[in-house]
Amino acid sequence: MIDLRSDTVTLPTEEMRNAMATAVVGDDVMGEDPTVNQLEKMAADLAGMEASLFVASGTMGNLVSVLAHCDRGDEVVLGDKSHLYRGEAGGISVLGSVSFKPLQNQEDGTIDINQLFESISPDDFHFSKTKVIALENTQNHCGGAVLLPEYVEKVSNFTNKHGLLLHMDGARIFNAAVYLGLNLSTLLENVDSVSICLSKGLSAPVGSLVCGSDEFISKARRIRKMLGGGMRQAGIIAAAGIIALEKMVDRLSEDHINAKKLAVGLSKIPNIGIDIDQVQTNIIFFEIKEVSELKLASLLENKGVKIYPRKPKWRIVTHSGITSTDVDIVLDAFKKSMDALV
Ligand SMILES: Cc1ncc(COP(=O)(O)O)c(C=O)c1O
Repeated sequence: MIDLRSDTVTLPTEEMRNAMATAVVGDDVMGEDPTVNQLEKMAADLAGMEASLFVASGTMGNLVSVLAHCDRGDEVVLGDKSHLYRGEAGGISVLGSVSFKPLQNQEDGTIDINQLFESISPDDFHFSKTKVIALENTQNHCGGAVLLPEYVEKVSNFTNKHGLLLHMDGARIFNAAVYLGLNLSTLLENVDSVSICLSKGLSAPVGSLVCGSDEFISKARRIRKMLGGGMRQAGIIAAAGIIALEKMVDRLSEDHINAKKLAVGLSKIPNIGIDIDQVQTNIIFFEIKEVSELKLASLLENKGVKIYPRKPKWRIVTHSGITSTDVDIVLDAFKKSMDALV
């Protein structure tokens, strides 16, 4: 099967499996797992931040970050297409009594800067207290769009001026770094906290890293424990994370090249609506017109291509399990399946 549903389907490499088998471990809740400590130090150094915390997932990374920044009754301003708003079971409000203030994400993944500035609640006891602005880079549901450092800087100038905090959902921040040809620390220069996924394009089996100041990470560690996320001999999985950071970042450019090749190929097939200029990283959104989407998905699956028939647009994600030859196979399967249905 050529599985294009998500980069979360990536499998650990042989080198990761070997590192996992031989990892030196200890009790990480007691701070005594050398492999976790090494991974956290690596992540903090790469992010240019004081400290880092290994957590179970991207969802836990965002949740721990918001709960560390906010008190009950505070509010987070974020994009209406952000994963934190639409894909994390409302965790910050369910578990932290923190409310969402969603603003429209534009096609390029940004939130209009003036709208953002106007959204901050006045200092008045009638309102929730705005505490955090949360951005997402790359912005998954805007086709993996990359936020530019200049935009993030504008937002952070504003958060600094108004005593707010800037959190970055950096589930795919390495895709942004590779696309821009910049270091992670440059992208995060003006950010208070970030959550980075190891188990998407970087292909580790489990885990994310939250990075920020010493004070923030110490709060985040307490909250991770409270959520049941303190893992004992977690070095077994952290070992794969170290390989992910060392060996799997530069190759993300291959995923971007394959995504562009797929997008260009799809744009030549009648009844597929796609904006190829929007494809910057490893995510492609496109429209299927005139044919039954369920039938198309089923025909594709019969030809060995797995994709979710999402509405209103389909999403394809390239990753380490997809080669350039797979892209040719996928395009051929699309052409034949669309021809059979019109
Ligand atoms: C942008 C973004 N943030 C966070 C997450 C959550 O990650 P996880 O599935 O590891 O909880 C995802 C998952 O797809 C995501 O796309």
